[in-house]
Amino acid sequence: GVLRWLWRLTYLSAIAGTGFVGYGIYSNRNPPEQIDPDPNKKTLVVLGTGWGSVSLLKKLDTENYNVVVISPRNYFLFTPLLPSCTTGLIEHRSIMEPVRNFLRHKKAAVKFYEAEATKIDYERRVIYVNDESEIKGESHTTEVPFDMLVVGVGAENATFGIPGVREHSCFLKEVNDAQRIRQRIMDCCETATFKDQSPDEVKRLLHMVVVGGGPTGVEFAGELQDFFENDLKKWIPDIKDNFKVTLVEALPSVLPMFSKQLIDYTEKTFKEETIEVRTKTMVKNVTDKYIEAEFTDANGQKQTEKIPYGLLVWATGNALRPVVKDLMAQIPAQKDSRRGLAVNEYLVVKGTENVWAVGDCAVAGYAPTGQVAAQEGAFLARLFNQMGKTESIDLELKNLSAVQETAPNKEKRDEAFARIKDLQRRRRRVNSMGPFEYSHQGSLAYIGSEKAVADISWLTGNLASGGTLTYFFWLSAYLSMCFSTRNRILVIMDWTKAKVFGRDVSRE
Ligand code: FAD
Ligand code: NAI
Repeated sequence: GVLRWLWRLTYLSAIAGTGFVGYGIYSNRNPPEQIDPDPNKKTLVVLGTGWGSVSLLKKLDTENYNVVVISPRNYFLFTPLLPSCTTGLIEHRSIMEPVRNFLRHKKAAVKFYEAEATKIDYERRVIYVNDESEIKGESHTTEVPFDMLVVGVGAENATFGIPGVREHSCFLKEVNDAQRIRQRIMDCCETATFKDQSPDEVKRLLHMVVVGGGPTGVEFAGELQDFFENDLKKWIPDIKDNFKVTLVEALPSVLPMFSKQLIDYTEKTFKEETIEVRTKTMVKNVTDKYIEAEFTDANGQKQTEKIPYGLLVWATGNALRPVVKDLMAQIPAQKDSRRGLAVNEYLVVKGTENVWAVGDCAVAGYAPTGQVAAQEGAFLARLFNQMGKTESIDLELKNLSAVQETAPNKEKRDEAFARIKDLQRRRRRVNSMGPFEYSHQGSLAYIGSEKAVADISWLTGNLASGGTLTYFFWLSAYLSMCFSTRNRILVIMDWTKAKVFGRDVSRE
């Protein structure tokens, strides 16, 4: 009897579960009709579709404003897994989420223009916009006026004006960077095995140099060495003795934002993985076949060394985008800011009333990370939602005071009075929103051979850990942080595919 009941219960749960998932899929694909934006409302322009802007858009009540989004990228990119795309462990589309996908779920419709903001004219309250994509219509440059503006354009790659960097190296920031690196790795390997290649040339072609020992450089070096160990040396045994990864860092250690213990652990692990780490080595010049790096020898003398390479990946951090630099030049209060738009504790760009900045282009006193940008975006959404509520309360209060003054009978006047009191209370509550406070969840980085390092904030303090267990923590943390269930499923499928069949070594 019990067994039969258990069986029925399982059966019913399975039906209910399938129904639930089915409904989820259906409602995801068929969101309700959106309401049109009200032209009498303020125009809120959001620049960028990265961590900061997308986090804002996800939580924003769009019916309070006319929302316009402008970005040259019509998708969000989950950057923490980008290094895995350079080796084909994960396919790039698995970590991209089209902005149209989530914008169509907003209550009021949002306008999206795939274009670049080339200039923000603060005085005139307009943005100059350019469609930089391959296909251009008759209209491809225009102006977009704004009442409120959020700048979330991120940063570009720093080169410090070092000659040859832009021409000869690959960056690792966008999808096309990862694709380019993936192609070049394979090209170097295939070219190294070309008939009659000299031993020196084989060595050069198989020397993979990474400049910058921040988390981008470290994670990429780890992924590349994994690719070699797990797949490349099996598919192309000829490269086995010459394939080498070198990480070059100007400072005395890699990963300066991690604790000393984890820095040592990373450097030890790299040694075991046979990744060469060249600290206190500053790259000064880049040519098509070698880099020139300066280091101090045992006698304290400065030496310059030519390091030949086949693939060069440049990961030396962030620099300001021209559109941000130009905006800063228009605002006197920004004159002393060097690293980005200085913002106050409500993320308002100092020297303006109606411009906010989030993420890597803003200087709020935090590191330029996705974690910070996402929290800033979510904070602005709450702020704007509150402001939207305040505006609708103000409008109602105005109407009610008119009723109170002109209503012929006392009953109506008392009713209006009571409602006014209630609304004033609500308005005070809404206005009491505190400033932005960042809550650091910790730093995580993958360092290769299924090991990761983590500096995690706990209630009781900090926890520093490194190793395989940390790798599983890293894996589950980033999986859970993926933008959507679709992304999560795709990433799991890619991982499984690469583990079962090996990474795909074909060069597209
Ligand atoms: P972005 O996410 O860079 O977005 C900027 C947006 O603005 C983009 O959509 C871009 O197309 C758009 N844009 C650019 N120019 C214009 C223009 N002129 N007009 C309009 N739009 C424009 N952080 C973490 O916290 N954890 C991690 O594990 C982590 N891993 C990373 C791995 C890699 C390889 C990299 C490169 C970064 C990583 N980061 C990580 C850092 C994180 O990605 C950034 O801090 C974060 O992307 C910053 O968010 P953002 O919104 O300011 O800028
Ligand atoms: P970074 O700024 O953290 O590190 C760049 C490194 O390059 C520095 O250590 C610098 O000393 C070195 N460098 C600069 N010029 C050099 C030269 N000429 N020669 C040799 N070395 C030189 O940059 P990164 O790694 O791109 O990170 C950017 C931001 O994104 C950081 O805030 C980082 O925390 C965040 N990020 C976080 C990740 C994570 O949490 N796992 C992963 C990737 C990025």
